[in-house]
Amino acid sequence: MAVRDVLRMGEPVLLQKAAAVETFDTPELHALIQDLEDTMKHMNGAGIAAPQIGVSQRVVIFGQKETDSSKNPRYPDADAVPYTVLINPVLTPIGTGMEDGWEGCLSVPGMRGVVPRYTRLHYAGFDQFGHAIDRLVSGFHARVVQHECDHLDGILYPMRISDLKDFGFSDVFFPNQDFQDD
Ligand code: NI
Repeated sequence: MAVRDVLRMGEPVLLQKAAAVETFDTPELHALIQDLEDTMKHMNGAGIAAPQIGVSQRVVIFGQKETDSSKNPRYPDADAVPYTVLINPVLTPIGTGMEDGWEGCLSVPGMRGVVPRYTRLHYAGFDQFGHAIDRLVSGFHARVVQHECDHLDGILYPMRISDLKDFGFSDVFFPNQDFQDD
């Protein structure tokens, strides 16, 4: 359908709590999902949340379809995360274990930071047809879900960084890696 402009940090909508989706399997919802998918692919994102394209609804997508052979160039060492549409998500950490990891965000282009996230979590929600999703995940998959769902509560990853010395420009921290403009 369309690659949409990704809003950057500073836009008020990125700080809002997004509204729950109440009706599934509608043309409007399918169009939103398609725009999110087109935009995420175009930007080589690991995921994207609806508020990032100016739609304040509790919708995120992340991961890659099996047909997309290459791994995400922005996270080359990461395990593949299955393509997922997740609506009205509920996240429940399993235990208190957390781990640090580098993150970037399409709304904070050109930068990276080290963010602590729960290592394991359970997440539930719905796909665009209203089918229930229920998963237990860990590692990078768990990290991506936490990052994307934070967007629905107006939280951007820099707000989660525990030591701002671990926040800076991608090409300074990683001069030998060919990052896309994330
Ligand atoms: Ni993000």
